[in-house]
Amino acid sequence: MSILSKTGPVAKPLPHDAAKLHVTGAARYVDDIPMPAGCLHLAFGISTIAKGRITAMDLDAVRASDGVVLVLVAQDLPFSNDVSPAAHDEPLLSDGRVHYVGQPLFLVVASSHRAARVAARKGQIEYAQETPILTVDQALAADSRFEDGPRIYNKGDAAAAIAAAPHLVEGVMELGGQEHFYLEGQAALALPQEGGDMLVTSSTQHPTEIQHKVAEAIGLPMHAVRVEIRRMGGGFGGKESQGNALAVSCAIAARATGKPCKMRYDRDDDMVITGKRHDFRISYRAGFGDDGALSGVEFTHLVRCGWAQDLSLPVADRAMLHADNAYAIPAIRIESHRLKTNTQSATAYRGFGGPQGMVGIERVMDHIAHDLGLDPVSVRQVNYYDAPETAKLAADQGGAAPRPAASPRSSSGKKKDNTTPYGMEVSDFELHGMTARLLETSDYQARRAEITAWNKTQDQLKRGIGFSPVKFGISFTLTHLNQAGALVHVYQDGSIHLNHGGTEMGQGLFQKVAQVAASRFGVGMELVKITATDTAKVPNTSATAASSGTDLNGMAVKAACDTIRDRMATFLAQHHQCSVASVRFEDGRVIAGADEMTFEQAAMLCYQGRISLSATGFYKTPKVEWDRIKGQGRPFFYFAYGASVTEVVVDRLSGENRILRSDILHDAGVSLNPHLDIGQVEGGYVQGVGWLTTEELVWDGNGRLSTHAPSTYKIPACSDRPDVFNVALWDGQNREDSIYRSKAVGEPPFMLGISAYLALSHAVSAYGEAYPALDAPATAEQLWSAIRRVRDGV
Ligand code: MTE
Ligand code: MOS
Repeated sequence: MSILSKTGPVAKPLPHDAAKLHVTGAARYVDDIPMPAGCLHLAFGISTIAKGRITAMDLDAVRASDGVVLVLVAQDLPFSNDVSPAAHDEPLLSDGRVHYVGQPLFLVVASSHRAARVAARKGQIEYAQETPILTVDQALAADSRFEDGPRIYNKGDAAAAIAAAPHLVEGVMELGGQEHFYLEGQAALALPQEGGDMLVTSSTQHPTEIQHKVAEAIGLPMHAVRVEIRRMGGGFGGKESQGNALAVSCAIAARATGKPCKMRYDRDDDMVITGKRHDFRISYRAGFGDDGALSGVEFTHLVRCGWAQDLSLPVADRAMLHADNAYAIPAIRIESHRLKTNTQSATAYRGFGGPQGMVGIERVMDHIAHDLGLDPVSVRQVNYYDAPETAKLAADQGGAAPRPAASPRSSSGKKKDNTTPYGMEVSDFELHGMTARLLETSDYQARRAEITAWNKTQDQLKRGIGFSPVKFGISFTLTHLNQAGALVHVYQDGSIHLNHGGTEMGQGLFQKVAQVAASRFGVGMELVKITATDTAKVPNTSATAASSGTDLNGMAVKAACDTIRDRMATFLAQHHQCSVASVRFEDGRVIAGADEMTFEQAAMLCYQGRISLSATGFYKTPKVEWDRIKGQGRPFFYFAYGASVTEVVVDRLSGENRILRSDILHDAGVSLNPHLDIGQVEGGYVQGVGWLTTEELVWDGNGRLSTHAPSTYKIPACSDRPDVFNVALWDGQNREDSIYRSKAVGEPPFMLGISAYLALSHAVSAYGEAYPALDAPATAEQLWSAIRRVRDGV
């Protein structure tokens, strides 16, 4: 492992830098910042109807309410009335049109959080109501959509391939959305500065966007607005764009009153106002051979985007980009409809559409295995992309890969067309080896046989076991976002100040990047100070998203550190009469020629020698290019892989179920921090399982979200953790030149939760002959009905 020799803290399983602060309650979130004197508090008055026009707004009672300082409607806003991330279709306060239940109509500024909330309820609003478009069917009927028509990706002639195939499965599945349920709700604080400048602290994954939107809203250039965030209490994609409204409101109110202004949503408001994961209806038709090898697949994605565009187009794109998951499908057609509905504007959520796309093809695999009576793992293996060795060998022998209409590799061992539906060559496929390893460590075959035998002896309870692989594309599909900056200072006492454009939301980014910095200087972690993300230190940053926080910021920090280190080495080489290349930074010491000193001493020497000990760093991801309209190119730098086996037990009488055991093997490349990465894998898996099993969003016929609190919306609790939970990291390395050959790990494990859905499907299928055709979330109620269908034909 040459990569890991002499690397200092990199690759060490260190705890999260704020672990102690988290568990003692001392970690400071936006709402914990000591309140500045005279701080005012904000709340929105929100719409109670889903669609219509405001005909009258009587806010006298709001203004008269205790502690109210100011009430603002759209006409009172000084500059732009827009908090959308891109499409300019999302007013901060209603411009007279109402698009969903929960839409902010007016803004209350008051002396306390409670006073603002109480007053916000007192608005008398009259509406001219219209019939809302709430469901996928209603949106299709009304042709209510973003973009003119569906987006379509094609590879080969899927319809012809399906028609020519010996076997066919087809079906439709409903796939629910998901509330982010970050433990810390949305929050922001604005402090007016001299000359009209604004300092904003925001619980955001995207400080630059907050800076941009605040600057627009108060009519100033971006240089007059500084945004800072030390950490979030979870983001999960829900703080990529959804924090804009709060930060902009605070800045506008602070500008108007000259006072610090703070806003935080309480849990119900947060759930009612902000966007969630997109729900999908996926229809599929797949043609395949006797061994389950696919010859062609057609998917239609009906995507419920809500009222504003937000990030829906790239989310729906990413779903299409993951419709193949791990499988070389000779001919495929994916059609995606981005439907506009009178509901919350659906937004980024861990996986960013990838999970929805992947569930589609995993459902197809499950259906095929059921109908052919084959082991679902073998059906998957027969369809896997080729391993790079096989693919390369074939390319060396035969030149350019031919693109046969319908000749997947079968047991004959012929090579496959290893390009994705969007024309990217898969050249780093790890799943053959990973699958073999996981099947062995989880004892899959023997357990599956034992479960089948056990199920025959049971009437009420049935067990099921499911396997699912993950191949997840790493990079922003909007190519220009794949850049990052860093700012590093070494002080004269040798302590190091670390700053970069990434944000910390619990995932461990700051610690991993600090490990990189310490390693570049060959020092211990105690010398490195992790500091808050700050738009005044590093400008023009991308959201911390697409799992690429470490890849991008780690590289930018490495560049900054290396600049300083090289300056130090050059100076010390001169000073100590040795070659620059021979100067070494190791174990807290600097060795230059015959001299050896501590890093602190070296820093002091360099300072006295008038060497600049501060540097910026910059990184842009190589190789990526993508045409989203054509659906062709290389959107991803590389793929991250994972595989999981989940075992469940289901009760026929209630549909109640639990996970008995989960085994996961995940590919984090050369892990920068195995403990943090395993934490991401465990958390991602459990969150994925929650999405597919218990987390159900229900809107009533008027578009009101009925599940707007933890009492009615069921996220996994500690007790839902699998009884046996074996998580391991694959000991590979990134084939691309990423930071220390690691791989992004934030989102991919989320999709390992699909194996729980498949295990439930397997268990339900044990009650009868028919394919269970589970929708998701596969709640206890749903399982109960599915069992009746499968068992009794009801
Ligand atoms: N882990 C924790 N604990 N909290 C979070 O909010 N967000 C996820 C993932 N893991 C999240 C998390 C999402 S949606 C993304 S995109 C990545 O972390 C972002 O961080 P990274 O790019 O540093 O992996
Ligand atoms: Mo993650 S959904 O890319 O913030």
